[in-house]
Order: sequence, then structure tokens, then C-alpha cells
Amino acid sequence: MNWGMQNRMSRIFQPHDGRTTMLAVDHGYFLGPTSGLEDMKTSIDPLVQYADCLMVTRGALRCSISPDHNVPVMLRVSGGSSVLKDLSDEEIYNSLEDAIRINATGVAVSIFIGSANERQTVTNLTKMINEGERYGIPVLAVTAVGKDMVRDERYFSLCSRMAAELGARIVKTYYCDGFADLIKKVPVPVVVAGGKKIPEKDALQLAYNCVSDGAAGVDMGRNIFQSECPSAMIQAVRHIIHDNATVDKAWEMFNTLKSEMAKK
Ligand code: R5P
Repeated sequence: MNWGMQNRMSRIFQPHDGRTTMLAVDHGYFLGPTSGLEDMKTSIDPLVQYADCLMVTRGALRCSISPDHNVPVMLRVSGGSSVLKDLSDEEIYNSLEDAIRINATGVAVSIFIGSANERQTVTNLTKMINEGERYGIPVLAVTAVGKDMVRDERYFSLCSRMAAELGARIVKTYYCDGFADLIKKVPVPVVVAGGKKIPEKDALQLAYNCVSDGAAGVDMGRNIFQSECPSAMIQAVRHIIHDNATVDKAWEMFNTLKSEMAKK
């Protein structure tokens, strides 16, 4: 790995433990004004200090996130279809040149394995990998779930291993039964998406299960920014990822921070 690539990976994954707490706030690229992200300047900018890396679109960065934050940016560069259409019909919408201008630490591309647009999305990924490798910029492959796909270890292993074989430096996928087996088959760091909002303690349990089974961290969105106390939630998730806290300890931290904030 060249120095630039290694340096960028070390910004995303903390060198002392190889883990990351990524905050995913890129949902607007297909969902528009997602609940919790309507006013990102107010809701997200204050959370950035607790994130190891921010997964975001260039528009949200420009409008809502202060450039004074020293946070590594994982820039979403694939998209094109709204939630009203076939989400797998994606292209690369953000050039690597613009990603470099933004000072992105990495770029994220979705692949939809098993969908009618499988080849198109895999080509999006490999084109971006070819460019990213030239400039030492890691590409994160998001294994978006193709229509009618069974969300099991076999499917997520297929998508994740393909992404790694094609050159993705990081894979983002979903947690599933048998996740530890998936980790054994994927030779690059794997981060896990949080998915739909679930009760806070369940989301902490999910983060705990992910790292216990070998994930290099989470790339969590809705379970943080739609939490009743997003700042407490991201800090509690961090506690699990970086301090190996138990779910009970992280839950205690969440409740303590939440009541302290309620007093302010
Ligand atoms: C997928 O790539 C989306 O854009 C989000 O980044 C992803 O779903 C992670 O967010 P959440 O934890 O809300 O699922």
C-alpha cells in the first residue's frame, strides 16, 4: 500500500485499534429530506466531533458541515435514482477530481449484486477504484441489497468478497446471522450499516455484535441521528467500538449523557 493510501486508511481506522465509528448522513442522495437530516447544520454538525469519519454527499458538506472540522470525509460518489425509482440504476455522479478538491479521505460507491443493474454498478465501482488507486484514495464499496435478495450470510459474503476481489479497500455491508463467517471470507476491513431505526439499546447491541464478530466498526446513520439523543448515542456507540464496552456499560453511558443534556 502506498504512503498516501496507508495514511488515508489510518485516518479512517484509528491506528491504535484498527476500528472506526463512521457517521453515515448521506441518505439525502436518494431519500431527500430524511427524518433527522432536515437541517443538518443543526442536527449533524454538532455530532461530527465524535465521528472518526463522516459519510456524506458533497452538497451536504457544502451547505451544512463546517470545513473547520478535522474529520475524514467518506464522500458518496454513486447515485442517480430516487427512492421513487429503481435504486440500483446508479452512475458515478461525483468526479474524483471534485472529491480531491473537497479533500475527501475516501469515496463510497454502491453495488447492487443480483439486480438487473448489477454490471453497471460493479463497473461504477471498478472505474472509481482504478482512479482512486492512481491517487491513493481508498474506495469503500457499499453492498446495497438488490431487489428480492435474501439478506443472509451467503448473499452478503458474495457481495462483500466480490467487492474486495475487485479492489475495494473497505466494504460496508449489513449484519446477519453467521457474520463471523463473512468476516473470515473478506480480506479487507468491513464496516456495518446500522439500518432502520431500532430502540437505542438494540442498536448498541448491534454495534457490539459487529465488532465482537470481527467487523472493523460501524457506519451508522439513522440509529444515531434519529435517536432521542443523537449526541449521547454516538458517544455510547464509540464506547463499544473503541473501548470494548459491554452493551450495559454503553447503555448506562447513553442514559447518563442524555440526562446531563436534558439539564442544560
Ligand atoms: C447506504 O449507503 C446509505 O446511504 C447509508 O449510508 C447507510 O444506509 C447507513 O446508514 P444507516 O445506518 O441509516 O443504514
